[in-house]
Amino acid sequence: MKIKENWSLPNLKEAAKRTRSAVERVDHYYIPANTLDLGTGKTYYISTYGCQANQRDSETIAGILETIGFRPAQDLEHIDVIILNTCAIRQNAEEKVLGEIGRFKKLYRENKDLVIGVCGCMAQEDEFVKLILEKYPQVRLLFGTHNIQDLPVMLYDAMVKHEKVVKIYSKEGEVYENLPVKRFENHKAWVNIMYGCDKFCTYCIVPYTRGKQRSRMMDEILKEVQELKDAGYKEITLLGQNVNAYGKDLEEPIDFATLLEETAKIGIPRIRFMTSHPWDFTDEMVDIIARYDNIMPFIHLPVQSGDDEILKRMGRRYTRESYMKLYRKIMDTVPNAAVSTDIIVGFPNESDEAFEHTLELVKECQFDNAFTFIYSPRPGTPAAKMEDGIDEQTKHERLYRLNEEWNKYALEKNKAYIGKKVTVLVDGASKRNDHVYSGYTETNKLVNFTGENIKPGDFVDVMITDAKTFSLDGKAV
Ligand code: 5AD
Ligand code: SF4
Repeated sequence: MKIKENWSLPNLKEAAKRTRSAVERVDHYYIPANTLDLGTGKTYYISTYGCQANQRDSETIAGILETIGFRPAQDLEHIDVIILNTCAIRQNAEEKVLGEIGRFKKLYRENKDLVIGVCGCMAQEDEFVKLILEKYPQVRLLFGTHNIQDLPVMLYDAMVKHEKVVKIYSKEGEVYENLPVKRFENHKAWVNIMYGCDKFCTYCIVPYTRGKQRSRMMDEILKEVQELKDAGYKEITLLGQNVNAYGKDLEEPIDFATLLEETAKIGIPRIRFMTSHPWDFTDEMVDIIARYDNIMPFIHLPVQSGDDEILKRMGRRYTRESYMKLYRKIMDTVPNAAVSTDIIVGFPNESDEAFEHTLELVKECQFDNAFTFIYSPRPGTPAAKMEDGIDEQTKHERLYRLNEEWNKYALEKNKAYIGKKVTVLVDGASKRNDHVYSGYTETNKLVNFTGENIKPGDFVDVMITDAKTFSLDGKAV
């Protein structure tokens, strides 16, 4: 593979370094004049994988593209730019991306001006970038999570100078304010409150792909929330890899409880936040959630495992007991609270006993929802070097048993809603039947319901008539 001088390639080791230096904050976004009409008459398509941080990044990418004249493509026949915003959290996320890049090869063969760009967390991995450069010539643009703001210049180089562009920094990162954004939804919005992660859980690639924890200034966040409220948004989700650690990295430290309270006071009808790490979850936070009606009583609280030895090797910094204490505090303090979680099975050398501990915890907590995964070794992380004698079949059986277990409780929890009235924020009508609508309760339950003359963004009272594991059915009342 020939490496060009003006390429910057990722380096996972470099990405793991953390310094004490202050985060650079860039408040003004400048688009070079020669790129301003680069996209006039041209179209784009973005394919987004992975978490909400990526979805929010794609909204920035779309915002930048539309600022320089591009419009969303109606079909893939006459398209000029395709961006794949990728996820590296597990191997299967990577496989899906490679499949999609493969499918776009034909489009590139027919149109050599087409720019296929790959960005996001996979682009931060050296091995992946090497693979793309060697085997996927149709990818003409590769950029990292720290390079989104450079998109106009990168596209200029790809489209006008016909260069292959590779621009991936592995660094702690900055905080950019005022980047353009095209929100994909009209009544719900993501609000970044921080970027990156410093927790370095031993299985996780995120601290390497997204840099050091960098909190936005509280007044910038509150300004954005106020603007969203003024624009008629009904719900915002405060986003960060670990929102509870918000503000700890600021020169004048501030905590998430304060941010949450100030956000609630703005009066937007629904506030959500994710993701919470049990380690930084303070009693003040629990109290604020309980005190404000517009902070939704729904908490995503990844536990990962119910076994202390595994938790220790995962680097999670809490024990099963301290998790349970926090869980009980939330359930006892926040009226009608719903809690969801993430669980990994098959962490290196997870014993039968350790797995049973996870099942026991699930039984005790009876989560409303759970996202369960088989451990996937991420090259460059400490867990990837741990010995693992557990075979694949055992891991799959554990996942199956775990899913059976949590599904049982989720269904029971949902059944308790039958005959009750809930308030649903409507997302839209069903594609198959326009008298059937869907939306979410305050506790983040998906509700499919019948009604008349209902619009996305409406709050509707719904009587629940039936319950499934993953959703509720009802009628507008
Ligand atoms: N393998 C499997 N699951 C993982 N997660 C993070 N890294 C890995 C990995 N290497 C899961 C965790 C996390 C969620 C977003 O993804 O449960 O909370
Ligand atoms: Fe990954 Fe742990 Fe950071 Fe979450 S808190 S992003 S699991 S390192």
